[in-house]
Amino acid sequence: MRALLLGPPGSGKGTQGDLLAAHFGVPRVSTGDMLREAVASGSELGRRARERMDAGRLVPDEVVLGLVRERLARADAAKGFLLDGYPRNAAQAEALDGLLHEIGAELDAAVLIDVPQEEVVSRLGGRRVSLTSGATYHVVNNPPKVEGRCDVDGSELIQRDDDREEVVRERLRVYQEQTEPLIDYYRQHGILVEIDGRGTVRQVFDRVVEAL
Ligand code: AP5
Ligand code: MG
Repeated sequence: MRALLLGPPGSGKGTQGDLLAAHFGVPRVSTGDMLREAVASGSELGRRARERMDAGRLVPDEVVLGLVRERLARADAAKGFLLDGYPRNAAQAEALDGLLHEIGAELDAAVLIDVPQEEVVSRLGGRRVSLTSGATYHVVNNPPKVEGRCDVDGSELIQRDDDREEVVRERLRVYQEQTEPLIDYYRQHGILVEIDGRGTVRQVFDRVVEAL
């Protein structure tokens, strides 16, 4: 399966992406996670990305395309992948089409996880993440087994720098302006799958699996 997840910040792309990747036996490829790794490692790329991320703005297209190109070339992505957070604007969608064409692959689905704005803001307020495993939790809705520790690798859970209220507002604005138009793009390509992202994590997961 080759698919991508679309949806506003906090809609559950990472949460569902992990479950779906395990279910379908493909890697989840998250540009947000890759960029956070680059920031944490202190690399040149990370330094360039950090300022944009902390402001809730998009990192330059060629930077993320480079990351995605490298990641999709790895052996575990040969039979499929689930993109999370890529593409995020029209230029990235066209670059992805070009990249898939080069490797002779096609997208099966663009899954839109639809969640109203108020809900997204409350989800992001309680989010906790592991920087090493990429796993996502919520203090109320989806807590880890041991408070403050990741179920997957026991690492410390942190709050993302860009989950502050003013940055969340900017991320939502950028989503509406640049990413939302991709809904029509994939609808026109006949591969859009629209999912109601409200309800429990399990309910949303079941809806996606049924739709796919
Ligand atoms: P990225 O990391 O992709 O962030 P995002 O798109 O803003 O999305 P989030 O990760 O915030 O939300 P999510 O949909 O994954 O929700 P989650 O599952 O965590 O990007 C970060 C930054 O990197 C960007 O701002 C940009 O600067 C840069 N970047 C990344 N990709 C880029 C690109 N392609 N081009 C340019 N720049 C790029 O869930 C949220 C919370 O809700 C969690 O606490 C979770 O436990 C909880 N939750 C999940 N599902 C439910 C449910 N059903 N009910 C209740 N709670 C739930
Ligand atoms: Mg995410």
